[in-house]
Amino acid sequence: MSIHTKKRKININSIKKMKGNEKIVMVTAYDALFAKLFNDEVDMILVGDSLNMSFLGKPDTLSATMEQMLYHTKAVCNGATTPLIIFDMPFGSYNTKEEALKNAIKVYKESCADAIKIEGGADRAEIVRYLVQNGIAVISHIGLMPQFVRGEGGYRVRGKSLEDAQKLLEDAKILEEAGAFALLLEGIVSDVAANITKNVKIPTIGIGAGVGCDGQVLVWSDMFGFFEDFKPKFVKRYMEGASLIREALKEYKKEVKEGRFPTTDYSY
Ligand code: KIV
Repeated sequence: MSIHTKKRKININSIKKMKGNEKIVMVTAYDALFAKLFNDEVDMILVGDSLNMSFLGKPDTLSATMEQMLYHTKAVCNGATTPLIIFDMPFGSYNTKEEALKNAIKVYKESCADAIKIEGGADRAEIVRYLVQNGIAVISHIGLMPQFVRGEGGYRVRGKSLEDAQKLLEDAKILEEAGAFALLLEGIVSDVAANITKNVKIPTIGIGAGVGCDGQVLVWSDMFGFFEDFKPKFVKRYMEGASLIREALKEYKKEVKEGRFPTTDYSY
């Protein structure tokens, strides 16, 4: 890409301005290789703690650590130059506002992350406010919150009752007021997420929350068909990555076994 066509680095103000004007495209990435591929196509990259499941093979996200998330964020920073990069704060790293700030400062000092993401509604508003007051950009994650899966006894779509829909809207407004620059809405009934989107001034990014959000996020290993353990309803596979790898690997194996690789084209 020439210097004249190089895209400018996206910041939180560019993301805020996209609300109502242009849909926001976000994916997760865990390393430089994929971050480089996503670089020119997406507005935001989330270094999600979902990597604990797809990359580490754990049953949920709860055992992810600050060190692990920092390692992957630094790798993403080495590959992505344009998108806004978000660090997903792991379970247990933001239980108090002091602990949240200490860990968020570590993220800013040791990586190029532009913002952090924390799960939680009104109960986390004071933590969000404290972080923002101290110069940290925060995206709040409400609805289905994977870090709460053990505490709540499973993954549950939110907003099915009027009471829950009202609670989610209240959470969204309180988090906006506390200073979150955006909201991630996960596993929420579409109409409820659309109503939240209409009633806040900050952008909403949906995952399993319908088309009425200001943007969408998908986990890269889900959307490209590499993660096969399970497929939630909201995941659209844009390619069958695992099948492609298996086919290619079989071909390689066959050629090696039969002494057909490397040919002279691949030899010195
Ligand atoms: O960790 C993650 O990848 C996430 C997505 C579900 C948005 O939080």
